[in-house]
Amino acid sequence: MGLKILTEHINVPGINTFETYRKMGGYRSVEKALKTMTPDEVVDEVKKSGLRGRGGAGFPTGMKWSFLAKPEGKPRYLVCNADESEPGTFKDRVLMEKIPHALIEGMITSSYALGARTSYIYIRGELMFVLRILEKAIAEAYAAGFLGENILGSGYSLDLHVHPGGGAYICGEETALLESLEGKRGNPRNKPPFPAVQGLYACPTVVNNVESIATVPWIVNNTGEEYAKIGVGRSTGTKLISAGGHLNKPGVYEIELGLPVEEFLFSDEYCGGIWKGRQFKAVVAGGSSVPILPAQLFLKTAEGTPRLMTYESLSEGGFVSGTMLGSGGFIAMDDTTCIVRNTWNFSRFYHHESCGQCSPCREGTGWMEKILHRIEHGHGHMHDIDLLVNVSKQIEGNTICPLGDAAAWPVASAVRHFREEFEWHVKHPDKATAPGAVYRGAEDLAFA
Ligand SMILES: Cc1cc2nc3c(=O)[nH]c(=O)nc-3n(C[C@H](O)[C@H](O)[C@H](O)COP(=O)(O)O)c2cc1C
Ligand code: SF4
Repeated sequence: MGLKILTEHINVPGINTFETYRKMGGYRSVEKALKTMTPDEVVDEVKKSGLRGRGGAGFPTGMKWSFLAKPEGKPRYLVCNADESEPGTFKDRVLMEKIPHALIEGMITSSYALGARTSYIYIRGELMFVLRILEKAIAEAYAAGFLGENILGSGYSLDLHVHPGGGAYICGEETALLESLEGKRGNPRNKPPFPAVQGLYACPTVVNNVESIATVPWIVNNTGEEYAKIGVGRSTGTKLISAGGHLNKPGVYEIELGLPVEEFLFSDEYCGGIWKGRQFKAVVAGGSSVPILPAQLFLKTAEGTPRLMTYESLSEGGFVSGTMLGSGGFIAMDDTTCIVRNTWNFSRFYHHESCGQCSPCREGTGWMEKILHRIEHGHGHMHDIDLLVNVSKQIEGNTICPLGDAAAWPVASAVRHFREEFEWHVKHPDKATAPGAVYRGAEDLAFA
C-alpha cells in the first residue's frame, strides 16, 4: 500500500464532520502554524516540500506564494480553484465531498501564511451539493473558533466564503475565475500583470487548486523536508489521480509520485487493468487537454525506459513521444475506441467552451471540429488531415489563455500517433469506424 496523505482517513465514518475530523488529528496544522510559526516560516516549509500545483501546470506552490506582492495598504487574497471542469478529472470533487475539513484546514493555514484575511473557494456551480457540504463544514469551523475573529486567541482573523461558479470550463482558468468571482463574465485576462500583483479586485492574490491547498496541513505538521522525501526528483509527494475510461477499477487513487505507470494501470491495488480483458490502445494521462499517447509509448518512452507517474517521466520525449501529468485526469481507452471519433468529441467540447476573445481559438476550434466531423462522417479528404495539423499549429501559442493550446494538443497528437486511422476513415467513407472500433452512438454524443 502506498503512503496516503490526503485520503488516509477518507473512509472513516463521519469524517465529514468537524468532531470526527478533529478526533483523527485534524486542524493540528492550524494550531501549530498560528501558535508557533511566523507566516514566512510556513511559506518556507511549503517551498522546501517541493509541492507542485495540482491544478494542471505543476508550478511550485512555495515559489508562487513568494511572488505575492508585499502589502501596500491593500488586502491579499487566497482563492481556491475548485472549478474542476477538465474532462476526465474528478479528484477535487471527491476530496471536498468526503473530507471537506481537509480543504478548510488547508485554507486557514495557507491564508495565514499569505497574510489573507478573506479567502474564497470558487466551486463549479453544478456541484451545488458539494457547496452545501463545504458551507456546513465552514459553519462548524467558525463555531469551533478555527475561523472568524482572533482564531484560537492568536490575533489572526480569517473569513472564508464559498462561491458558486458559472459552470463554464473557462472559469477554471485562474484569471477568468477572478473575473467571475468579481461578478463579471469569466473571460481570461491578459498577463502580466499576474494575480500575485493584481488579482482579485486588483489586489495581490494567490489562486491554488483544492488538492494543493489540502496538502499544506501535512507539510506544516511533518515539515517540508519530510514531504520532499516522498516521490522522485522534482515530483515530490503524493498525487490524486482520477482514473476513468475502459478500466476494471475506475476511481480516485492517491499514488506516490514515481509509481511505474504499468503498476498503476494493471495492479489490483489501483486500476486493475483494462476492462473485459481487452487490449490497451491509448491513454490521455492528465485530463483532456494533454496529448494522447498510444499504449506502447505510455508504458515505455521512445528510448525504451519504463515511464513513471511523475511530471518529468510522462513528458519525456516532449510532445513528439511524450505527454503531461496535467490535472491527473487519466482516461484509458481499449482497442474498441475510435480515435477519430474521440478527437472529434474533445474538439466539440473545446469549441463549445472557447470564450471567443481571441480569433485563433474562437475560429480555430470551430474549424477543427468541422474538419473532424467531416472525416468521421465519411466526407473527409486526405488533405483534411494535414489541414487539421495546420489549424492546430495556428492556435498553439497564439492565444490569451492556455485553452487554445488545450484544444490544439489533443488534435495534433491524435494525428501524430494515429494518422493511419484518420486515413482509413477518408478511404472508407461508407464505414462508421476503423477496424476493431465500435460505434457507441448516444454515449459518444454527450456534448451534442
Ligand atoms: C481552461 C483552463 C481551465 C482550468 N481549470 C482548472 C480547474 O478547474 N482547477 C484548477 O485548479 N486549475 C485549473 N486550471 C489551471 C488554473 O489556471 C491555475 O493554474 C491553477 O488553479 C493554479 O493552482 P495550482 O498552482 O495549485 O495548480 C485551468 C486552466 C485553464 C487554462
Ligand atoms: S484562448 Fe480561447 S478561451 Fe482563452 S481567452 Fe482566447 S478565446 Fe478565450
